[in-house]
Amino acid sequence: MKVLIATEKPFAAEAVNGIERVFEKAGMQILLLEKYTSKAQVLEAVKDVQAIIIRSDIIDAEVLNAAKELKIVVRAGAGYDNVDLEAATAHNVVVMNTPGQNSNAVAELALGMMVYAARNFYDGTSGSELMGKKLGIHAYGNVGRNVARIAKGFGMDIYAYDAFCPAEVIEKEGVKALASAEELYETCQYISLHIPATEETKNSINYALLSKMPPKAVLVNTARKEVINEQELVKLMEDRQDFKYVTDIMPKNDNELKEKFAKRYFSTPKKMGAQTSEANNNAGIAAANQIVDFLLNGNTKFKVN
Ligand code: 3PG
Repeated sequence: MKVLIATEKPFAAEAVNGIERVFEKAGMQILLLEKYTSKAQVLEAVKDVQAIIIRSDIIDAEVLNAAKELKIVVRAGAGYDNVDLEAATAHNVVVMNTPGQNSNAVAELALGMMVYAARNFYDGTSGSELMGKKLGIHAYGNVGRNVARIAKGFGMDIYAYDAFCPAEVIEKEGVKALASAEELYETCQYISLHIPATEETKNSINYALLSKMPPKAVLVNTARKEVINEQELVKLMEDRQDFKYVTDIMPKNDNELKEKFAKRYFSTPKKMGAQTSEANNNAGIAAANQIVDFLLNGNTKFKVN
């Protein structure tokens, strides 16, 4: 059996070695496609493989059509909005993710970005501290939970809103559960986004919601760019000189934001929340083990389609 690792943004070499060991032990062959620059390379590479490991790499109907022998795709990570689930199901391809495996890495970056914003992007001027400030965690999943754990160490006053996680679960971890996103944004100077990109959440972080935030508001996005209504964000930042936006997912209008709000906007050049050797190891090796367990034993735990 043959497995493709298709990562435009490669895993750390150590993680690739670990993944290779899992497949070697199972007697499976590996094809490594890293830093590819065109879809044609992916279409060629998927031709005769039974399994694929990806990160934010796109698996759409065209890729699935080209992958005639494919049985499983594992997204080494949490969000699987880059995979066309309906098309995968139509092709009898199982799709899985590896929930929780890279969440500490993303959470650490979220706090790092908060400090960066609070200290005026390290420009030498007098900034502020996180201690005692209200932090709103928007969606209390694996990353949100880790953000709460780390933010406690900073002495932040922590709130969360999650449409699906029961308030008791949140409160048990010493975090105040709020009943709506509106209440969260009204209450918290810092908001850390941890919602997935779905039909419901796309463009949902809009002017109406963000304008509720208290003075000196900071929005931290380590989730997905699609959840932000970018035009409305620009309008809001024009109207509110006290508003900062820091993101790990470069918006489509990065140039406009940079030009207009140089001192209040920052984006990483390439999404790097999960880009640590630990997270690569955890997610990559989990993905490899899930593939082996599915192909050899039919285990479908973590299936998302
Ligand atoms: C995820 O959904 O797991 C994160 O956004 C990380 O994505 P990446 O593997 O493309 O860095």
